[in-house]
Amino acid sequence: METQFKLEGDFTLIDHLSTKWQAPSNIALVKYWGKYGMQLPANPSISFTLNACRTITTVTAKKGTHGFNISYDGTPKPEFAPKIEAYFKRIADYCPWIANYHFDIDTHNTFPHSSGIASSASSMAAMSVCMMDFESTLTGQEMDFHKASFLARLGSGSACRSLKGSAVVWGTHKEVDDSSQYFGVDKSDYLHPVFQDFQDTILLVDKGEKVVSSTVGHELMNGHAFAKARFEQAHENLSTLKKALQEGDLETFIKITESEALTLHAMMMTSHPYFILMKPKTLSIIEEIWAFRKETGIPVCFTLDAGANVHMLYPHENNEAVQGLINSKLAQYCQNGHYICDQVGTGAKKC
Ligand code: PMV
Repeated sequence: METQFKLEGDFTLIDHLSTKWQAPSNIALVKYWGKYGMQLPANPSISFTLNACRTITTVTAKKGTHGFNISYDGTPKPEFAPKIEAYFKRIADYCPWIANYHFDIDTHNTFPHSSGIASSASSMAAMSVCMMDFESTLTGQEMDFHKASFLARLGSGSACRSLKGSAVVWGTHKEVDDSSQYFGVDKSDYLHPVFQDFQDTILLVDKGEKVVSSTVGHELMNGHAFAKARFEQAHENLSTLKKALQEGDLETFIKITESEALTLHAMMMTSHPYFILMKPKTLSIIEEIWAFRKETGIPVCFTLDAGANVHMLYPHENNEAVQGLINSKLAQYCQNGHYICDQVGTGAKKC
């Protein structure tokens, strides 16, 4: 399967290449936690693609000795270089032409750098779609979004869900046609209209560095006492969630989404060494969301990624009521009152 993405055909080197793409972040509903081999997921996952939280990347390539410069909004960032270097090494087998180019990469995020929102998904997706844009120019072939997703996965696992589509599945699942361990597949057609413009307000509880990186967290699933049951559960949850997304069944959506978030953190709390990424304010927000839902019947729920921030998910038609909840109760738990209003998006776009 991996050989499918090795560039076999001819390519013609061009002296100068230039492109600019933006790619969004994504939020998993069924979580990827645990991996093996070269960034292959221990269980399938599904995510909503976001819209406002994006990375915008410009790459120019000059024919010559391989190398690169990396900057953030025009400021050189040598500290980003090891990640990019590792990425180029991993993709070299699949994109042999990169050996003939020196790249100038400039990137920036639409969300604050220190928001605690991982930028690896959007940045690796943006970088990969730029590389595939070049490859399409050099080969005369159409842009291959599956290969862009494949390359993004090699940079950062969940990045492969940030290329194309409003809902993306990554990892093989018996009820998901064309699902693959190697790249994300666009499953926008699963989304009932209520989910097509679903809202995600990210409540920024803690903007600091994570105490345990997701790389270490994934590793701790090897030999984890509950790993086998967890991986099986993810398959079942994806089946149930698929149906709920198709039918617009908000009750089931909430049940699975919240349970997945808490299970992710339960895995962290029961690994060895164990760790906790939630903060007291994360729990306060969860309690407020539950109380609000009970009181009003409004179908608002939460999910968490590998951090303390809370993603609050709800239908577009409930915007006003939820904004009231944020102003009256939730903003006080956010660092400096900061939160980001986002919603389901469609994927990477050329600028
Ligand atoms: O892509 P990584 O290695 O940063 O892992 C991301 C893991 C979670 O965000 C916790 C879950 C997911 O599926 O995105």
